[in-house]
Amino acid sequence: MTHAEKPAARNTAPLRLGIAGLGTVGVGVLRLLEQNRDLVQARAGRAIEVVAVHARDRAKDRGVDLAPYAWAETMEDLASNPDVDLVVELVGGSDGPALSLAEAALERGKGVVTANKAMIAHHGHRLAKLSESGGGALRFEAAVAGGIPVISGLREGAAGNALERVYGILNGTSNYILSEMESSGADFAETLGDAQKLGYAEADPAFDIDGVDAAHKLAILSALSFGTQVDFDGVEIEGIRQVRAVDIARADALGYVVRLIGVADIDDNGNGGDAPRLLQRVRPCLIPKNHPLAPIDGATNAVVAEGNFAGRLMFQGAGAGEGPTASAVMADIVAVARGDRTPPFSVLADTLRAAERADSGARIARSYLRFSVADRPGVLAELTAAMRDADVSIESLIQDGESGEDGVLVAMVTHAGPVANVRRAIALLENSPSLTGQPLVMPILRS
Ligand code: NAP
Ligand code: HSE
Repeated sequence: MTHAEKPAARNTAPLRLGIAGLGTVGVGVLRLLEQNRDLVQARAGRAIEVVAVHARDRAKDRGVDLAPYAWAETMEDLASNPDVDLVVELVGGSDGPALSLAEAALERGKGVVTANKAMIAHHGHRLAKLSESGGGALRFEAAVAGGIPVISGLREGAAGNALERVYGILNGTSNYILSEMESSGADFAETLGDAQKLGYAEADPAFDIDGVDAAHKLAILSALSFGTQVDFDGVEIEGIRQVRAVDIARADALGYVVRLIGVADIDDNGNGGDAPRLLQRVRPCLIPKNHPLAPIDGATNAVVAEGNFAGRLMFQGAGAGEGPTASAVMADIVAVARGDRTPPFSVLADTLRAAERADSGARIARSYLRFSVADRPGVLAELTAAMRDADVSIESLIQDGESGEDGVLVAMVTHAGPVANVRRAIALLENSPSLTGQPLVMPILRS
């Protein structure tokens, strides 16, 4: 063995954790460590000890025994405690106390493991630089797709591949809602309440249903897959609030299911090779029933990446909840214990490329359009005229026989064409008195 190939001496001292946040995920981590301590420590090659914990309310009964751990009075105490080697941030929020804690820990050379996709999507590039310039490790496996090891899968397992597209079902709460609406016909509000009770939803569930949480995850996946700087503000976002049971039924009749999908595409030569062009979007989409994402239901997530040597890779598993998320957090803790210092975004943060934002209107897609219209002569002609004037070709059209609360529903599927043309058609109809509600447009994911 040459000198360069010699493994570094292994640190066998216990790895001492300070955990901030004792909610769904924090408690899950304590339970996992309690139950799987022996195998986790054997894999880590050293003991893993929780030395201090912190949350807002010390008196709250969390269903776990906190007596063995010191209670840190402030989050800052976890970063400054000389007995803490690794800070585990499970509080949440893009800024505020979570960010201050991560910065304080990294500045002191301590590692940070976090499940906080909002923080990584907004500040991941800077935190990665802090980590690489002498700080401790920074790891966020649990931030994307809950229990699925997709970060390490892409960073390590797919390291030999150029990736041009990464997409998938990235929010368990929305997927749970859409698949419950599909299977039981339950309404939106009822299913959201269930997802909250099951511990899937964010502290503010609007992040889930408005697509923001999926966008946080997509921005992280893009950076990791394409070697570009995290660009959360560049993600075009639309959530699932406008999707109705009737859309799900129409989609079903046409051979599709409805899912909230995040898609990122990179075009490395899009600007003559100077800067890559990146297109990132989160939207409810129609998925052909024969697509591998179509059967993904409940809080399951799935991420698909297309590698130039590996081909289509699909990572699937529980995307939210106590156990799966704790599993991902513990994977990161074990990696830190083993001394893994892979750059958080696979390449050094200083070398992440700035990408231009691509024009989503230029994309060619088939689309589903749903209109609520007044039940009177000439309305269909007005809709089809707008399509004609915007150069949108209609593949099929279904009109409901009966009027509902807000008029008659007309659903269309278009032939493949520029997305900008569909937007133009909708704009042409914007102030039409024939429309009794906001139209809904959902792209159809290609197989
Ligand atoms: P949670 O159940 O709401 O727990 C949050 C914890 O943080 C609570 O213990 C809370 O204290 C504590 N906390 C909140 N604000 C605080 C503050 N200002 N100072 C000190 N402590 C504070 O949230 P969670 O579901 O465990 O999620 C935690 C993180 O994991 C978030 O970043 C989330 O996005 C991420 N995540 C969650 C899941 C999931 O399935 N739940 C999956 C993947 C990633 P109290 O308990 O005293 O109120
Ligand atoms: N609220 C998130 C979801 C938790 O529903 O997917 C997992 O990141």
